[in-house]
Amino acid sequence: MYRYILTDVFNKGTRTVGTKRHSKKLGHSRYQLGDHSPCPKGGLSRYQLGDYFPYCLAGHSRYHLGVHSPSYPVSRYSRYHLTRLYSNKAFPKMSVRVPLSCDFFFRQLFDRESCTYTYLLADTVDGEAVIIDPVLEMAERDAKLIEELGLRLKYAMNTHMHADHITGTGLLKKLIPGCQSLISKASGAQADKYVEAGDEVLFGRHRLEVRATPGHTNGCVTYVCHEQGLVFTGDALLIRGCGRTDFQEGNSETLYDSVHSQIFTLPDAFQVYPAHDYKGQTVSTVGEEKKYNPRLCKQLNEFVKIMENLNLPYPKMIDKAVPANKCCGMYDI
Ligand code: FE2
Repeated sequence: MYRYILTDVFNKGTRTVGTKRHSKKLGHSRYQLGDHSPCPKGGLSRYQLGDYFPYCLAGHSRYHLGVHSPSYPVSRYSRYHLTRLYSNKAFPKMSVRVPLSCDFFFRQLFDRESCTYTYLLADTVDGEAVIIDPVLEMAERDAKLIEELGLRLKYAMNTHMHADHITGTGLLKKLIPGCQSLISKASGAQADKYVEAGDEVLFGRHRLEVRATPGHTNGCVTYVCHEQGLVFTGDALLIRGCGRTDFQEGNSETLYDSVHSQIFTLPDAFQVYPAHDYKGQTVSTVGEEKKYNPRLCKQLNEFVKIMENLNLPYPKMIDKAVPANKCCGMYDI
């Protein structure tokens, strides 16, 4: 299989963009095509790429051609994609997805009952995988998928200690020997591995940065995959909404600060994948939420008022879910 990976070389000044056979100086801080074994069919595109990206499209120095299969001429596909992108000026750039690299597997899964999204990520070369926010009732589905795909689950991890469903991490550990549970230290829940702000979760050659985003709960974290432009926000930031702040250790001011300082500072094109959605939306972007989130685009005092007046019912699962989630979801099953 071909691998076309644009390694992140977003240094200021002139870079040499080269391959085994050619090299060319470009006047921009640019991207280097590396790690490809046989010469790609659209070899020329490697040099045209610099012209196509005279400035940083996504506000982030990460571009992959990896999604293009070997049968797809890289140059044609890239050109087509970018031509369309630039020709449609009305379409907001913040909503353009930067393609994932070919060695990065991503699958969004859903639990109808709790409207929870679970995310399976993997290194397709190495086979190492992580799962974010699995749900107890869906753990067998997830384990089966992992087995079918031939992946090795390294971590079953949570963005926080959930109150609306029981986590599937404990059961996944039973179903998949060798898998470890992972949660933030501040969550107060049991796990094999604890993380805190600045840590990285590694699987294969891929990595997720841990960012502390308290406010919904004290232990909420957001996982950021910079290379792929993905951000897993848990309940800190939902699509056009946010997690409630009226139970557990909720605090509206803290949540506002977390989202603005840790998530809204990411590039606009980063794809936001939350822990839940109740209206059928599957993904958003940082830029969209900055602009259109009806709560978080407001000033802090307005946000606090909105959160104080949500008048939400007492969460029906909280008395069962929180004690269970304190010990990996293995309570009373
Ligand atoms: Fe939650």
